[in-house]
Amino acid sequence: MPWQRKHLLTIEELSRAEIGQLLATAGAFRRILDRKVKKVPALRGKTIVNLFLEPSTRTRLSFEMAAKFLSADVISFDAASSSTSKGETLRDTAQNIQALSADVIVLRHSASGSPLYLSRVLDIPVINAGDGAHEHPTQALLDVFTMHEKLGDLQGRKIVILGDILFSRVARSNIHALTKLGANVTIVGPSTLVPHWFESLGVQVSHNLRSALADADVVMLLRIQHERQASSHFPSLGEYTSMFGLNQARAEWIKPDAIIMHPGPIKRGVEIDSALADSPRSVILQQVTNGIAVRMAALYLCSGGQPEHVTTPLE
Ligand code: CP
Repeated sequence: MPWQRKHLLTIEELSRAEIGQLLATAGAFRRILDRKVKKVPALRGKTIVNLFLEPSTRTRLSFEMAAKFLSADVISFDAASSSTSKGETLRDTAQNIQALSADVIVLRHSASGSPLYLSRVLDIPVINAGDGAHEHPTQALLDVFTMHEKLGDLQGRKIVILGDILFSRVARSNIHALTKLGANVTIVGPSTLVPHWFESLGVQVSHNLRSALADADVVMLLRIQHERQASSHFPSLGEYTSMFGLNQARAEWIKPDAIIMHPGPIKRGVEIDSALADSPRSVILQQVTNGIAVRMAALYLCSGGQPEHVTTPLE
């Protein structure tokens, strides 16, 4: 089946087959990352612009690395010194970047739906690098890629997502990806951050950490997204940690071979005990490496590449 999407905006709109194509393409690019010379000529002559209007370390740098490994030119927009500070709109900013001959825009923005909006006013591909509390599709793809690497087929596997689900674009994208792939997803945390209406997305909702962690194959921890919360959703961080932080004692409740994931940035000592984040059960840094391969796949496919061409012509 040929890849037909120009934009990567959400996981919700992707079919299971399209997720499979992205993961297979990422798999081919992941092998390139283990080589001495990581560069392939797939996007030579293309220019990628990272338009990040919210802070980022992993996503912005891995899109930069991905573009460079594909031989594209990459420019990271510096929001602080740009004319957005003079009031230029997102639409005008993006249309000017397009007029400057960019071939792809990678957008991170605090407003949910902003990548969809840009995709309607631009002629070039738009890739969502995180929009408000809505979606973070490449994060979910790298998470699923890492789970596949560690566990194989996700059908019937129990994946627990623990923390601030309400304000998390990572949680939403993962819920869409994992349910499409047949995993059993449980979300757990305080009732103010894990409301029952999430059940409409096909997940189990729990407010009891011990029972939620039982039989989990994966525990994915999420940071409290203070930047999106207008008011406090629990009395204090200390109280959150005492009830829902993952520490060594609570890790005993998980299966011995279960993996611990976190999209980053980690707040050590809040949602996860520092020693646990660095333990052999943690795959947090493997997620980061896999993020490059997934973003190479997203850039390549949205630029007109086809999954079946990845293995040979790029070698
Ligand atoms: N996981 C993630 O999106 O991290 P950054 O905000 O650092 O990009």
